[in-house]
Amino acid sequence: PEKALQKMREDRPKSLQDLNALIAASEPLVSGATRAVLGEGPLNADIVFVGEQPGDQEDREGRPFVGPAGQLLDRALAEAGIERGSVYLTNAVKHFKFEMRGKRRIHQKPSVSEVKHYRWWLMAELEFLSPRLVVALGGTAALALSGRQVSVTKTRGRQEFPPFAGFLTVHPAYLLRLPDAEAKASAYRAFVDDLRQVRVIAG
Ligand code: URA
Repeated sequence: PEKALQKMREDRPKSLQDLNALIAASEPLVSGATRAVLGEGPLNADIVFVGEQPGDQEDREGRPFVGPAGQLLDRALAEAGIERGSVYLTNAVKHFKFEMRGKRRIHQKPSVSEVKHYRWWLMAELEFLSPRLVVALGGTAALALSGRQVSVTKTRGRQEFPPFAGFLTVHPAYLLRLPDAEAKASAYRAFVDDLRQVRVIAG
């Protein structure tokens, strides 16, 4: 057992680069996903945003938050006075999970056990980054960060994701899905207000 423990310690990735190499070499959740989409941003970022999982476009391009939800996030960040290039963006789950509908790849929510499977990687990633604030975008990110199921409506706002100071807000894809234009506009304003708070807390 002593030897096994020592081996475990030696095998632990020593840098974010090593960790990302491990993630990149791992099997995707569903066959068909092109690649692992790794986190992106400055390693000394004060704020880390955690999404759910890469979408169709992220899977193709190999970068987080480049599709429609990412574009909405960019706009909201800019309105809140946060530069996208100054924050680190990553996901709870690193592979795109989807189901084919005709020729289209339709996003499928990762299961609780899938999220927990990726949790070790996410926490290790955050330990290397050691940000001032970790922002969960939506329930899946909050589950990954806290290890339990969390209601976004009930616990939105500042909170702890031990060992990190945290903040929970909605996922930008949720805003895209709201069918009513007025509801969408007001939910978007609330999202921007949350991001302004994030800026103040992390500042
Ligand atoms: N949604 C996410 O949660 N992450 C991405 O990278 C893109 C869309």
